[in-house]
Amino acid sequence: MAGSKWTTEQIPSQAGKTALVTGANSGIGYQAALELARHGAHVLLGCRSHAKGQAALERLLREAPGASAELVELDMASLASIRAFAGDFAVRGTGLDVLINNAGVMALPKREVTADGFERQFGTNHLGHFALTGLLIPQLLAAPAPRVVTVASLAHRNGKIDFDNLQSERGYKPWDAYGESKLANILFANELNRRAVLAHSKLVSMAVHPGVSRTSIVDNGPGSNGLKAVVLKLLAPVIMQPDAAGALPTLYAATSPEARGGEYIGPDGLMEMKGSPVVVQPRPHALDQAVAQRLWTVSEGLTGVVYPPLS
Ligand SMILES: NC(=O)c1ccc[n+]([C@@H]2O[C@H](COP(=O)([O-])OP(=O)(O)OC[C@H]3O[C@@H](n4cnc5c(N)ncnc54)[C@H](OP(=O)(O)O)[C@@H]3O)[C@@H](O)[C@H]2O)c1
Repeated sequence: MAGSKWTTEQIPSQAGKTALVTGANSGIGYQAALELARHGAHVLLGCRSHAKGQAALERLLREAPGASAELVELDMASLASIRAFAGDFAVRGTGLDVLINNAGVMALPKREVTADGFERQFGTNHLGHFALTGLLIPQLLAAPAPRVVTVASLAHRNGKIDFDNLQSERGYKPWDAYGESKLANILFANELNRRAVLAHSKLVSMAVHPGVSRTSIVDNGPGSNGLKAVVLKLLAPVIMQPDAAGALPTLYAATSPEARGGEYIGPDGLMEMKGSPVVVQPRPHALDQAVAQRLWTVSEGLTGVVYPPLS
């Protein structure tokens, strides 16, 4: 099991593997991409902004000289972009060993929508990754031991899946919409793993959370908008860990021989805010199979992505 003080030194060689990290140009996604590349994987940095992605790629190659990495255009708030990427990747004819569903936006002050008209947090954090994973299943199954890692949050605890108002069309509340999307991340990761087990698939799926980490997510989301954001910013130096530490649960799930499908990995410290990666427990409502199955069906309907057989 995830054990005492797991560090990046315990990452086994990733040579010969291909990994895709969404939202890889900053924060946890960048750090995860960097370590995977450092340990020999060929890493695709999935980014929506070419300029930011290029800067991240150059930084990665400076920090990990000789690493194998490339920038790919991938906007998780656009089904057309996701389909275009998946189509291009399929043409390569190579497998995908590791998929890290990391890109995210948090607590946007006003309700925004994606290119497809979905509420932006539900659309980016959940539906985009649901669609991307589904479209990449053939490439994942072409790898010897594929792993899908989905980055959730402590915020799932306050999340509710309200099937009558999934897109927050009535009464948009920034943190409720974020909580819903992060709860959806865990429900999705578990349901994917459950389906993989039923299909005797080699694919495994895990959810992780980074505790509370200093990244761009507050500035890109609530900024200084609202009490919660102000408190978060004030307490940042005390309660938050660096982004490299926040990436450890992701890296453990993506690489440790001891990680198992269906696990939820987070930091071992006080209130799971920081620390070393261990198996943690989500709130019971994140394990509700009936909700997970219904969310899956609804997500297929909204995205138009129907998963192929998992084995
Ligand atoms: N930091 C924490 O304490 C914390 C806690 C719990 C969970 N998380 C989760 O960790 C993940 C990473 O967040 P972070 O903290 O590392 O924040 P971050 O530094 O803001 O990184 C988020 C990344 O997602 C990208 N992104 C946003 N919308 C996108 C889209 N439509 N298409 C493609 N990429 C998109 C961002 O790209 P741009 O630069 O172009 O915006 C950025 O690269 C998120 O899923 C978040 O919910 C973070």
